[in-house]
Amino acid sequence: MACGTCKKAKNRECKIVNDNVNLYIQKMAEADGVILGSPTYFSMMSPEMKALIDRAGYVARANDAMFKRKVGAAVVAVRRAGGIPTFDAINHFFLISQMIVPGSSYWNVGVGLEKGDVEKDEEGMKTMEDLGKNMAWLIKKLNATT
Ligand SMILES: Cc1cc2nc3c(=O)[nH]c(=O)nc-3n(C[C@H](O)[C@H](O)[C@H](O)COP(=O)(O)O)c2cc1C
Repeated sequence: MACGTCKKAKNRECKIVNDNVNLYIQKMAEADGVILGSPTYFSMMSPEMKALIDRAGYVARANDAMFKRKVGAAVVAVRRAGGIPTFDAINHFFLISQMIVPGSSYWNVGVGLEKGDVEKDEEGMKTMEDLGKNMAWLIKKLNATT
């Protein structure tokens, strides 16, 4: 609702407490790396993921860039098309949050309509495996230097 309370309160929380958003914000703040996953709905992320990004992103910006220099990766499920705009939009959140985004051997999109379908997407599965390895490698390097 864009109340801006987080900018005044600066308590690392969203004022709306009737859901789990503050738990998710806290989990992201504690983590070295964050993976945000979404299905593709009409060529974009789900409304739930957008709400998380809007609210967590605003709280983080109001509190000295809470996610700064954490590693962030987007993972997207898609039946056919629209996965790349969804992937790009999630990465925009990481980049404006001063996070570091590792790559993989393809863009992090898995193809499937129903639960479990993605396991037949061999290239998608390999992409996620390479992403995981690159993310772990990067986090170890960052932890060694800070
Ligand atoms: C409302 C809605 C919109 C969708 N839009 C797209 C789309 O734009 N492109 C596409 O390839 N698949 C689309 N799909 C298919 C989903 O991306 C795909 O089934 C995905 O695996 C669903 O993940 P979920 O089970 O976590 O919702 C859509 C599905 C729904 C329910």
